[in-house]
Formats: sequence, structure tokens, C-alpha cells
Amino acid sequence: MINIIFMGPPGSGKGTQSAMLAAEMKIPTISTGEVLRKEVELQSEIGVMAKDYMNSGKLVPDEVVVDIIRNRISQADCNGGFIVDGFPRNLSQAIIFDQMLESLNKKIDVVFDFEAEDEVLLKRISGRFSCSACGAIYNSYFKPTKQEEVCDNCKSNQFESRPDDNRLSVKKRLQVYHETAENLIEHYKKNNLLYSIDALKSVPSISGRLIEIVQKFPNKLK
Ligand code: AP5
Repeated sequence: MINIIFMGPPGSGKGTQSAMLAAEMKIPTISTGEVLRKEVELQSEIGVMAKDYMNSGKLVPDEVVVDIIRNRISQADCNGGFIVDGFPRNLSQAIIFDQMLESLNKKIDVVFDFEAEDEVLLKRISGRFSCSACGAIYNSYFKPTKQEEVCDNCKSNQFESRPDDNRLSVKKRLQVYHETAENLIEHYKKNNLLYSIDALKSVPSISGRLIEIVQKFPNKLK
């Protein structure tokens, strides 16, 4: 059982890589961004509240995301390990998460910290689109579908872009990331959990590196 955090700036490839690693390891991925986007789509109470924060690139209040994580992480399928993508986002979320995990008799084993420059991230985000049916992530510059307008994964021809992938919101997301990441990195470095990942490498090369690191924990794997 291995419990992993993916952290890094917007567009650094967390979603792409966490989906691949989760499939490889047969463990669930919990993406707070993904859960929040579903709530917005459903126009639930959480979604209505979160929408403006997300579209303007600000963090949704801690208590909302902490509740999402608490509910999800205590479900049975997380007992065999999990990946958390995009949570925690600041030191206070990290401290609450540590306490939550302790109360559930769990702990984090690895934190992958994706590193890339803002300019590359802006380009990646401007080219991003995803399959409306299965959520597979593509990029018009770096990772197009193999067949034009057909999802590689589920063959759907419906695609969408994220409302928060506009230049203004992305700049704000990057600013928020730079304001909060340092404390988070220090927290996990201090606990010897942090692995820096060069997010500028190719998708397969990063996947290979993540698997290599995870395999250092043979007693933790299923
Ligand atoms: P969230 O959904 O977490 O967005 P994010 O952190 O801004 O990250 P992204 O999803 O934009 O990027 P990614 O790193 O997953 O990159 P991807 O793999 O798609 O959060 C959205 C919002 O929700 C937040 O702004 C906030 O409001 C709220 N929220 C979420 N969590 C919260 C929390 N804990 N607390 C408070 N609020 C929270 O890749 C990007 C593109 O690049 C894709 O097109 C992909 O195909 C391409 N690509 C990926 N890897 C490579 C590569 N190696 N080479 C070339 N292209 C690549």
C-alpha cells in the first residue's frame, strides 16, 4: 500500500501522470480540481460556491477541499493505496491532512514535486483539451489525439476546454502557486518525502521516472 501526493504548478502534468500511474498501480487518484469541476457541472451547493474561485484562479477555501478529501480518503478503495493530485495546496491543508491521515492510521510515502518554468506552463495550458466522455487529457501542441478529433482512449469525438484555462486565470493560478508552494515543499522535504520531478521531460520519460521511484518501495506495492 503506497500513498502518494502529486504537487506542482498548473500545467506541469500532474493530471496526465497521476492518471497513468494510478492505472499502472491499480490505485485510485483523487484530484481536488477534478472533484470540484464535477460539483460545478452539477451546480451543487459546493459547485456554486467554488465556481468563482476556480474561474478566477484562486484557491477554494480550505474547509471545502479538506471535507472532499476526508470523505474520499476514508472510502474502502483507498485502503490499498491512493494518489492525491492537487491537494494539499498550502501548509495549513498539509497539516490538517497529516492529522487526518494519522487518525485513519495512514501516512504519505512519497511526494512528487513537478518543476517547470512558467513560460512552458502557459503554452501547455493554452493547448490543453480533454475528452468530455472519459476525461483523457490532450494537447494541441504536445499531445494531440492519434486520429483527428477521436479520443485515443474511448473513441468519443466530444472534447472540451476548461473555463479556468484563460490567460488571466492561469496567471493568477501561477501567482498563487508561487506564494504557497515554498512552505509546502519545505514541509515535505523536512519529512524526507519529497522527490523533485523535471516536468520539462517527455510524458513517457516522466512516467518511467515515477515508476522507478515507486519501485523503491517494494514492500509497499500490491
Ligand atoms: P487543478 O485542477 O488541480 O488545476 P491545476 O493545479 O491548476 O493544475 P492543472 O490541472 O492545470 O495542470 P496539471 O498539472 O494537472 O497538468 P496536465 O496534466 O493537465 O485545480 C483547479 C482549481 O481548483 C484551482 O485553481 C483551485 O481553484 C481549485 N482547487 C483544486 N485543488 C484545490 C485545493 N487543494 N485547495 C484549494 N483549491 C483547490 O497537463 C497540462 C497540459 O500539458 C495538457 O494539455 C497535457 O497534455 C500537457 N502535458 C502534460 N505533460 C506534458 C509533458 N511532459 N510534455 C508536454 N506536454 C505535457
